[in-house]
Amino acid sequence: MPAAPLPAVDRRLVLIGIGPGDPRLVTLEAVDALAAADVVFVFNKGDDLADLRALRDEILTRHARADCRVIALADPPRRLGGDAAYGDAVGSWHDQRAELLRKALVDELSAGGVGALLVWGDPSLYDSTQRVADEAVAGAPWPVPVEVIPGVSSLHLLTARHCIPLNRVGAAVRITTGRRLAEAPPDEGCDVVVFLDGSTAFTRLDPADLDIYWGAYLGTPDELLIAGPLAAAAGEIVAARAEARARKGWMFDCYLLRWRG
Ligand SMILES: C[S@@+](CC[C@H](N)C(=O)[O-])C[C@H]1O[C@@H](n2cnc3c(N)ncnc32)[C@H](O)[C@@H]1O
Repeated sequence: MPAAPLPAVDRRLVLIGIGPGDPRLVTLEAVDALAAADVVFVFNKGDDLADLRALRDEILTRHARADCRVIALADPPRRLGGDAAYGDAVGSWHDQRAELLRKALVDELSAGGVGALLVWGDPSLYDSTQRVADEAVAGAPWPVPVEVIPGVSSLHLLTARHCIPLNRVGAAVRITTGRRLAEAPPDEGCDVVVFLDGSTAFTRLDPADLDIYWGAYLGTPDELLIAGPLAAAAGEIVAARAEARARKGWMFDCYLLRWRG
């Protein structure tokens, strides 16, 4: 009788949300997933994010096994043009990252191995890693199921630090980007959370009846928090942002705009 074919030995790729920066905000599920990883793939941005890289390395040192290999992938530069070109530029950047990851999976992930990608905050919130991973495994020569481990997002750390609920009773919250906020200001009654705002879009809103809850570098030693009526707080935030950005070379901030009353 011919021997039964051997079962395919699955590789796995796990996307691990590691929280917004504070190693204490890494969940126990993420700790288990880190300990199970044979290879961790990390996308490295420019040198200006060295302190973020140090926080990520600290998390790896604490939780990855000593024999876990860390494979650094040089993040392709993002060339984002004007509005019309934005979608194309992001799509092409995702494709380049997916190709890098696909190649790294083929080169580095052996049969039965567990690969991991670390994602700041939660992988489901304004993060392309899931799309990039799906595209990468689709091009791999063998099946690689993708799993996701949730993380504490910067959004949830923002509301926790300001001691506020995300939504008012029965009310809606829109989650958007600085770019979209500039196109569509907050509708009355619907609060707005804004991510990826490099151009302080809140300064171009009518501030009447709006409060702002702002946070930068949440969960890191440089954390900054400012809250108050938008009319009064906007200038303070712009100044704090500019000073911190000049000092550190990069800025990560997000905010909630809440209707008063
Ligand atoms: C690509 S998104 C990633 C969000 C992430 N997946 C999360 O769950 O927090 C990056 C944006 O998230 C926000 N962000 C991420 N980490 C942050 C932090 N530690 N403090 C403040 N904002 C942060 C900023 O708006 C930044 O531009």
